Amino acid sequence: MTPDLMEEGARRASAYRELAKVGKTESGGRQAGFSRVMAAGEVDVAHGRILYLEDVSVSFDGFKAINKLSLDIAPGELRCIIGPNGAGKTTMMDIITGKTRPDEGTVFFGSTIDLLRFTEPEIAQMGIGRKFQKPTVFEHLTVFENLELTLKTDKGVKSSMFFRLDSAHSDRLAEVLHTIHLADSTTRLAGNLSHGQKQWLEIGMLLTQDPKLLLLDEPVAGMTDEETARTAELFLSLKGKHSLMVVEHDMSFIKTISEIVTVLCDGSVLAQGTLDQVQSDERVIEVYLGR
Ligand SMILES: Nc1ncnc2c1ncn2[C@@H]1O[C@H](COP(=O)(O)OP(=O)(O)OP(=O)(O)O)[C@@H](O)[C@H]1O
Ligand SMILES: [Mg+2]
Repeated sequence: MTPDLMEEGARRASAYRELAKVGKTESGGRQAGFSRVMAAGEVDVAHGRILYLEDVSVSFDGFKAINKLSLDIAPGELRCIIGPNGAGKTTMMDIITGKTRPDEGTVFFGSTIDLLRFTEPEIAQMGIGRKFQKPTVFEHLTVFENLELTLKTDKGVKSSMFFRLDSAHSDRLAEVLHTIHLADSTTRLAGNLSHGQKQWLEIGMLLTQDPKLLLLDEPVAGMTDEETARTAELFLSLKGKHSLMVVEHDMSFIKTISEIVTVLCDGSVLAQGTLDQVQSDERVIEVYLGR
């Protein structure tokens, strides 16, 4: 870490100590329980942030898709991101997951992992799971087989073919199947599931890897009202165990799940607060909600 960053870190740490007294993060997110005790492979969230972006910018052919974007997310938080088409929501996820490199800025996972130093697979391995809009399940495999494929094992491809589930893995799969409402559909081919069920299965395929942070881009697009309602329940059940960043245009869904909502516009944060607060913000009404 550069001396500048360390100094900035010390300043923010002191600010956080103040904010911690009222249970808030610097950006307004609520703090979930966190601890200084860390096991190997864990993320240091002692400063109350699982994700931290500061002054991030990226241009495509001279067009600034992300423009001095700063935001942070608390451990266990479910943060909703809204904003007009082209605001930079997906590009922000591309940057966090290492798909796109920013031209400048800081992106940290916890307080010690500089994500800009890692590749996309390394970032996934560290515990940042991403769900794209289109479901990408293996249609010719069953629900169970799809999930089984994603279990973390130390085995190579060849031994994976003969891999038998141990009881810890079986328990984990059963838990995930229950969470994603597919416990009664384990032997169904993924290709025969409804659109919503495929989305849940893909979320389940992320959950088997026990991600610390989940990024979900328009997860309820194309779902029926009932599927959308069950997805809201699912996300609320994941909150606290995982940190979630959810991008959605469906405002009734956002209303059901949101605590803090961040509004992106022209590549930076236009407003942030509860849904009621951002919905009554004149600038947000003008660029997004009032359309
Ligand atoms: N790889 C790229 N090359 C060129 N332009 C890009 C690239 N990725 C994104 N953009 C542009 O950056 C801007 C932000 O796009 P982005 O997809 O992040 O918006 P978004 O907020 O996710 O919008 P939506 O709500 O429609 O999904 C858009 O103008 C888009 O055309
Ligand atoms: Mg998008």
